[in-house]
Amino acid sequence: MVRTLKIVDDSVMVQIRKEKKIRKTYEVFLLFAMGSQFDHLIAICLARLGVYCLVADPRSILTDDVRMIQPQGIILSGGPGSMIDEIPEFDRDILDIGIPVLGICLGFQMWADHVGCRIVRSAKREFGVHKLRIIKSKGILEGFKGNIDVLESHADSVVVNSNINVLAKTENAEVAAASFDHLHGVQFHPEVSDTERGEEIFSRFCFNICGAKDRFPSADVARKKISSLKEQIGKDKVLLALSGGSDSATVAYLLKNAIGDKKRLCGVYIKGIDRPDDEDYVIEKFGSQSWIDLKVVDATSDFLDALAGKHDMHQKRLAMRGVYKKVLEKEVGIFGAKYIAQGTLYTDICESSSGYSGERKATIKLHHNTGLDFSVPELMPLDDCVKDTGRAIGRSIGVPEDLLIRHPFPGPGLIVRIIGEVTSVRLRIARALDGIFIEELRQAGFYEKTWQAGVSLTDCMTTCTKGDDAAQGLIVIVWAVASVNGFTARAIDYPHDFLSRVAQRMTNEIPEVGLVTYRISDKPPSTIEVG
Ligand code: XMP
Repeated sequence: MVRTLKIVDDSVMVQIRKEKKIRKTYEVFLLFAMGSQFDHLIAICLARLGVYCLVADPRSILTDDVRMIQPQGIILSGGPGSMIDEIPEFDRDILDIGIPVLGICLGFQMWADHVGCRIVRSAKREFGVHKLRIIKSKGILEGFKGNIDVLESHADSVVVNSNINVLAKTENAEVAAASFDHLHGVQFHPEVSDTERGEEIFSRFCFNICGAKDRFPSADVARKKISSLKEQIGKDKVLLALSGGSDSATVAYLLKNAIGDKKRLCGVYIKGIDRPDDEDYVIEKFGSQSWIDLKVVDATSDFLDALAGKHDMHQKRLAMRGVYKKVLEKEVGIFGAKYIAQGTLYTDICESSSGYSGERKATIKLHHNTGLDFSVPELMPLDDCVKDTGRAIGRSIGVPEDLLIRHPFPGPGLIVRIIGEVTSVRLRIARALDGIFIEELRQAGFYEKTWQAGVSLTDCMTTCTKGDDAAQGLIVIVWAVASVNGFTARAIDYPHDFLSRVAQRMTNEIPEVGLVTYRISDKPPSTIEVG
């Protein structure tokens, strides 16, 4: 199966034909991945619609290749480039073939520039959810009326030009959706869940505009993953980094189906930077299973040694990765594993700056589990998934629901929730804060309704009074978000009395805490974790 199209030759054409046969379709779409953080969500949206979509590398797939493949439609994603000062590599003749194109964000600006529109740096940039005002209910916006919420993430905009047909605008962008002949474009991101009716926009494009007819029912993804794991592992042993979160738990269950023998599957839980209840939870869920051997490794002092004196978040992430790799390598040797398995998601890979096509992607943050260059090959069966698709796979193979609905927790654990140096005292405070907040969320019945929640420790002090004394106390940031996949997130608006109770408990029960704040920014532009 072709994952990212980098060249088109006879063997690639044979594979595409085979894939079309399996999917019982004559149609294929091409997604030129320009490096957006959301590229993968476009592919997921198209998969949900049941159309066959190939991801293409914009730097190497040229007009002749596109003519050979004859896609039903072409999608140009967004990306970190700019038509003003960082023009992405792409063969623009592709835009003149006549195949319908849907440009998203940068992808839209690419074709707008090609047909003579000016692209300018916006006076008011747009990041986050904005109101889209529909001007014409046509083309990709056929059937849309009034206003809808859309997620924007752009600093450049298209200037109105009489050549293009403007379909919608926002408060800060006079062209938020437009068309020109067979070229269609949106400045916002229809692929993210924060955009209302985003899937309908893809549907209008694929079915109404491109005339696609064949829909493929979604395949049994878990079954495919298990059989390819079986084939790859054979009779060898696998070491799994097991955190107790939903991703590594889902990988554990995939491996249960692929191996099913605790002599060949060992789960390693690394202790030290974890939540208050993680260890007990992992022991309860995996400690006495017949198909996995669980080992708890206490790496607290290794983490603290590696982190001593480090303040910069990237440096702390690097230090954490070093310990994580060292522990796993040691356990690989002890267990005699031929593979290391991790619950790495596409989101992790993507934010660590690589994606489908190799096109430049911004490094948002280096995730703990990517590019570690282990001495044995890695198994990352969820590396094409985001949180919700990973959870869906887990659900289909019987991962217990309480494991699946646990809030995501980052691999670098409490380290990314501590601004400034990580010491044993600050780790203790961060752990206690998490304990209070999660307990209160559960008691108030908010836990299940919250996608992820946490508390971050700043390195700022405030004057406070405790008893009759003046004191100095730490400022902490409580946060909670609603999200679907972690690519975007919105701050949750809890009742004031709930937040007030949380704040009171934190300042009363943890002597070092002097002031509690609640974060109201969304992602983007903030990220979910503070670090
Ligand atoms: P951000 O903070 O980038 O987080 O908005 C998106 C999701 O990823 C989690 N996260 C990580 N997960 N290793 C992980 O396994 C990491 O290094 C890491 N950093 C952030 C974060 O908790 C959120 O769910």
